Amino acid sequence: MKKLLIFMSLSLGTMGLYSQNSTIPSSVKNVEAKVDSVLNLMTLEEKVGQMIQYNGSWDLTGPASETGNKQKEDRLKKGLVGSMLNVLSVEATEKAQKLNMENSRMKIPLMFGYDVIHGYKTIFPVPLAETASWDMEAAEESARIAALESVAEGVNWTFSPMIDISRDARWGRIMEGSGEDPYLTSKVAVAKVKGYQGEDLSNPKTIAATAKHFAGYGFAEGGKDYNTVNIGENELHNVILPPFKAAADAGVATFMNSFNTIDGIPATGSESLQREILKGDWDWTGFMVSDWGSIAEMIPHGFAKDKIHAAEIAVKAGSDMDMEGGAYEAGLEKLVAAGKVEEALIDDAVKRILRVKFKMGLFDDPYRYINSETKKNVPYKEHMSTARDIAKKSIVLLKNENDLLPIKTSVKKIAVIGPLADDKDTPIGNWRAQGEENSAVSVLEGLKNANLDAQITYAQGIKLGMGERSFLMPLKINKTDTTGMGEAVRNAKNAELVVMVLGEDAFQSGEGRSQAKIGLAGLQMELLKAVHKVNKNIVLVLINGRPLELSWSSENIPTIVEAWQLGSESGNAIADVLLGKYNPSGKLPVSFPRAVGQEPLYYNHKNTGRPFSAEHVTYAHYTDIENGPLYPFGYGLSYTQFDYARPELSVESIKSREKATLSVAVTNSGDRKGKEVVQLYLRDLVATTARPVKELKGFEMIELEPGETKTVEFIINEEMLKFYNASEKWEAEEGEFQLMVGGNSEDVQSVKFNFSN
Ligand code: NOJ
Repeated sequence: MKKLLIFMSLSLGTMGLYSQNSTIPSSVKNVEAKVDSVLNLMTLEEKVGQMIQYNGSWDLTGPASETGNKQKEDRLKKGLVGSMLNVLSVEATEKAQKLNMENSRMKIPLMFGYDVIHGYKTIFPVPLAETASWDMEAAEESARIAALESVAEGVNWTFSPMIDISRDARWGRIMEGSGEDPYLTSKVAVAKVKGYQGEDLSNPKTIAATAKHFAGYGFAEGGKDYNTVNIGENELHNVILPPFKAAADAGVATFMNSFNTIDGIPATGSESLQREILKGDWDWTGFMVSDWGSIAEMIPHGFAKDKIHAAEIAVKAGSDMDMEGGAYEAGLEKLVAAGKVEEALIDDAVKRILRVKFKMGLFDDPYRYINSETKKNVPYKEHMSTARDIAKKSIVLLKNENDLLPIKTSVKKIAVIGPLADDKDTPIGNWRAQGEENSAVSVLEGLKNANLDAQITYAQGIKLGMGERSFLMPLKINKTDTTGMGEAVRNAKNAELVVMVLGEDAFQSGEGRSQAKIGLAGLQMELLKAVHKVNKNIVLVLINGRPLELSWSSENIPTIVEAWQLGSESGNAIADVLLGKYNPSGKLPVSFPRAVGQEPLYYNHKNTGRPFSAEHVTYAHYTDIENGPLYPFGYGLSYTQFDYARPELSVESIKSREKATLSVAVTNSGDRKGKEVVQLYLRDLVATTARPVKELKGFEMIELEPGETKTVEFIINEEMLKFYNASEKWEAEEGEFQLMVGGNSEDVQSVKFNFSN
């Protein structure tokens, strides 16, 4: 009887009563019944309409589709669009929602998606940088703020977090992810989902999140964006999938598939990834949006002969919504009519989409996230101070010799030099949403804001410019004009300390921004060497979105600060660290190479049969450079020192369901308060497949006063030992394991233990 009542109210609702005052109960428990009721009333054309996402046209983040604006508007009025992307502002989203709600038969609300990657208006560090904070509360908080600022502009769905593992600094999108480690990326994935979505997706201060790109996109061959991916099941399950599983378990509302092929199959057309693993094995109930045009891109992949064929492959594989691709629009109805696609598959996709819309509370109020009052209450000022806090935590101190940092009060003449030193745009980085051009605090401004009792001179050294700054047109650091170098060198000569700010411009990394060279671009090395000739007291501050090749600098420059693209408050945060107001605590989430030829480079590699030989040349190495990274994963210095005691294990062997405790005492042996990320790594010594030489399995950040000691405890259990093994199962195998603890992936102490069933 109760069911019948719900059905009746839903039927009425779809006939015109879905409005702000709808009486339809919104408790999650009834979502499935509501979804079914709505679906039962829909025509095939309307169902297919829900599976179509249109771009709002004015902010293209990919090639424009063939569907013109007039056509899009007509379809909106007929209720034949499920979602729009890149429609920004309360006015614009309201207009689109009204076209849909006031004219369509079914009145199914639209979702509005946008790439809110590291903030909406207040810009936080790019994701790779923020991950360097190893601070999951920070990762959650910046997502919560981004959500709030998004809904203030009518956006209720972000295409974030990007949780593609990447081991290749050449890949432009490495800036958008959390680096090379599946465990750390999984933690970030969960924090981001929590931050964007909160506890309740229908809360109008939250937005739906997207786990992307499913899957393998970060493993593009040669680090070239969109390129072919060739990986086996072992790598897929042990390295690429874990962060996605973590996001699915955390309740992420949507997934996005990816442009690449894996082992010959486009991810967008992969039934195994989408239907079998994600929706089958993991039992995930949200919906899969394609990447921009990725369904139709199966045609150039040579996997589909036309859009109709591409639509058939994608819907069968489990892609639920077509982002600005036109394939579903062209194909799905025809395919059902021809009996090539069962309507049940369409129903499954539409149910998933409706489910998310119900959970977001859109059926209760389609204008829930469209409210001009919201913006008035957004505490933008407070958000800036959080942005500064997170930015300073993301900075990694790579080298600090000659006691140059923190800058002493006795230093009275500082030369600030470099093309990025007073650049207010680069720190905003790529994927900046509505972060304004030139709105960041520059390093020069940050130092000036600190009111130092020192004279500060500034010289750009190399010009910035050549071309417009936009998503489509990268700005290049000048390669030919040396006119500014003389002034820079003169200033350096007259200074006690040089703060040199170099790196990459804002759009050197990001989508489509892969590079074959990852050194300092343009004339930056020339400038650095010229300054170094006259003054060796250089603090090199790097602003960049990917690991750079830094071998010369690492050998010759005493102090190096990895400051990434830190967002709106960049310069203030960098000044906080340079002046010692904040003791740096960041650790690298990705290995820094000695030379680009080492890429892909990652700490959790397998051992090979010939890991090392002191006597013979025939082992796994390059003959022209030292083996291993310049700066390893997990590495980062502090202004104080941390000493690790021998790790101790409570028992030397465990069985299933038992646990051991690994304790390590860490002492601050320096004279400043500081934070340390204590890291736990594990190696399975003999297994049915070769296992990595180490894998991160836990970390804890501790803060210690000078002289203070704290003991960190890690629980070791069977879960931690599991991996996708030769039997294609996620399980722990019996045998000996090595546990390693330390302040980075190389500097560790180890103990062994046994596991048996
Ligand atoms: C393509 C990118 O790969 C994806 O990450 C993004 O969300 C879409 N474009 C929409 O802008």
